[in-house]
Amino acid sequence: MRVVAVMNYKGGVGKTTLTANLGAVAASRGLRVLLLDLDPQTNLTFSFYSIDDWHERLKNDNRTVKQWYEAEMPGREVSLADLVVTPERVNRALGNSTGRLDLISSHLGLIDIDLELAARLGGATTFEGSKRKFLDLHGCLRRALEDSRFTEYDLVLIDCAPNFGLVTKTAIVASEQILVPAKADYLSTLGLDYLVGNCAGLVEQYNDFVNHKGGAGGHRTIDPSFLGVVFTMVQIYSQQVTLAQHAYIEEVRSNSRVPVLESKIRNSPRHFGDAGENGVPAMLRATGKDEVVREFDQLTDEVLGALALSGGGRR
Ligand SMILES: Nc1ncnc2c1ncn2[C@@H]1O[C@H](COP(=O)(O)OP(=O)(O)OP(=O)(O)O)[C@@H](O)[C@H]1O
Ligand SMILES: [Mg+2]
Repeated sequence: MRVVAVMNYKGGVGKTTLTANLGAVAASRGLRVLLLDLDPQTNLTFSFYSIDDWHERLKNDNRTVKQWYEAEMPGREVSLADLVVTPERVNRALGNSTGRLDLISSHLGLIDIDLELAARLGGATTFEGSKRKFLDLHGCLRRALEDSRFTEYDLVLIDCAPNFGLVTKTAIVASEQILVPAKADYLSTLGLDYLVGNCAGLVEQYNDFVNHKGGAGGHRTIDPSFLGVVFTMVQIYSQQVTLAQHAYIEEVRSNSRVPVLESKIRNSPRHFGDAGENGVPAMLRATGKDEVVREFDQLTDEVLGALALSGGGRR
């Protein structure tokens, strides 16, 4: 099982669209994929369930990740694996593929839980107490994904909120790779090194606590790496990336500490304009081999290759 966090502080850069479509294409190639929606905006969940279905079948049934995070210590009352659901429409659209796409749904109320969780970090009266709390809270998702019921998945993709709150930090700690969708513009590329620095700071603090004498309560050191930046909503004219965007991409390629993936996803309102309305990601609905389908195929090749996942047969 490979765990990848899809994150960027910047909002609206295509994280959720990429998570849904990459997950769907990987599943169409025969992989068993679990998507984990950790964004209180719940957009990834609404890409697979209508709002009414979410209310009736997930929220009212307490099958969202909010129930898991809101326990005194996440995982103590509900087990994460019990929250997994299998969205029907997308799985029907996978046709004969042996792959599967499952989801752990988010909840709009996760925003409050995120703040509460951060507040729970305080309060310990000893250094050992603070250390254990830090490791238990930050390591909760990592620990939960060790449940043997998750070993059936080849790939877990975590859609993060555009922030660096405690819930996002649990995703970083749980992930072995981080994928960073970004737009090729000034503001989107500006924050990339800041993101790398903050992740490195978190990893250092976590590992210091794990290595500190006095025991780590079973937590182990972490070493997530950046799979890379994938440029999304790229403006293409006459088969070429526009000059301005090309300059930003090259700037990141030469000066950023994050590698840049070869694959790019072009701006295509035709494909992504109605995100979430069909319950089936655009790349499974697209007919024929259009350019965006090819781009997502290439991205899937690149990501699965970097993760040493076979990806099964191509569509
Ligand atoms: N390649 C694309 N071409 C055109 N529109 C796109 C593309 N990718 C995403 N979009 C659209 O851009 C908007 C933002 O995308 P998305 O929700 O995936 O971003 P996000 O990074 O997850 O946002 P947030 O930070 O709010 O979670 C959505 O309306 C989506 O449909
Ligand atoms: Mg999103």
